[in-house]
Amino acid sequence: MTFDHKAVPLLAVEDLGVEFRTRSGTVRALDGIGFELRRGETLALVGESGSGKSVTAHAIMGILDAAAHVNSGRIVFGGLDLLTVAETEMAEIRGRELAIIFQNPRTALNPIRPVGKQIADILVRHGTVTAVCWRKSVSPTPSAAPSPTRSSFLAACASGS
Ligand SMILES: Nc1ncnc2c1ncn2[C@@H]1O[C@H](COP(=O)(O)OP(=O)(O)OP(=O)(O)O)[C@@H](O)[C@H]1O
Ligand SMILES: [Mg+2]
Repeated sequence: MTFDHKAVPLLAVEDLGVEFRTRSGTVRALDGIGFELRRGETLALVGESGSGKSVTAHAIMGILDAAAHVNSGRIVFGGLDLLTVAETEMAEIRGRELAIIFQNPRTALNPIRPVGKQIADILVRHGTVTAVCWRKSVSPTPSAAPSPTRSSFLAACASGS
C-alpha cells in the first residue's frame, strides 16, 4: 500500500477561535472556524467585510495583533500544530513554507525603508541569498530601471552558483 499524500491535509484549521481585547470590551473575531487544504488545492475564503478572513490568515501565519487571543482550536500544518510550536520554529516556517500577500501593500511596506531591502529581508533571513548578493543585485544604481543583469545575478545568487 502506498501513502497517498493528497489524502492528508497539508493545512487543517480546526475549531479556531480568536478574540481581541479592546477598551470597549472583547471582540469575538473568529468562532469555530474550520477547513482543510490538501497539497495542490486552492481555497478561497469569501465573506463580508469584518467577517474574519484576514484574522484567519494572520492566525495561520502567527502574526496576530498583540491584542488578539486564540481561545480555541488548532492550526495543523504539515503535522505541526502552529499554535504550539516555538517562535524560533515558526520563524523558520514563516516565509519559507507559509507566505502571505497583505491586503494593503501601502501599509504592509515600511515607507522609510527601501523596497528592495524589504523584499530581500525574507531571502536573507532564510539564507536563500547572502546580504552581499542582495546588495549587488538590487541596491539602487543611478538608473532606477529594472536591470536584467541584476535580476540574473540575483537568480544565480539564489541558486548558489
Ligand atoms: N486589532 C484588532 N482589534 C480589535 N478588533 C479587531 C482587530 N483586528 C481585527 N479586528 C476585528 O476582527 C473582525 C475580523 O476582521 P478581519 O480584518 O479579519 O475582517 P476581513 O474579513 O478580513 O474584512 P475585509 O474584507 O474588510 O478585509 C472584525 O470585526 C474586526 O473589527
Ligand atoms: Mg481582510
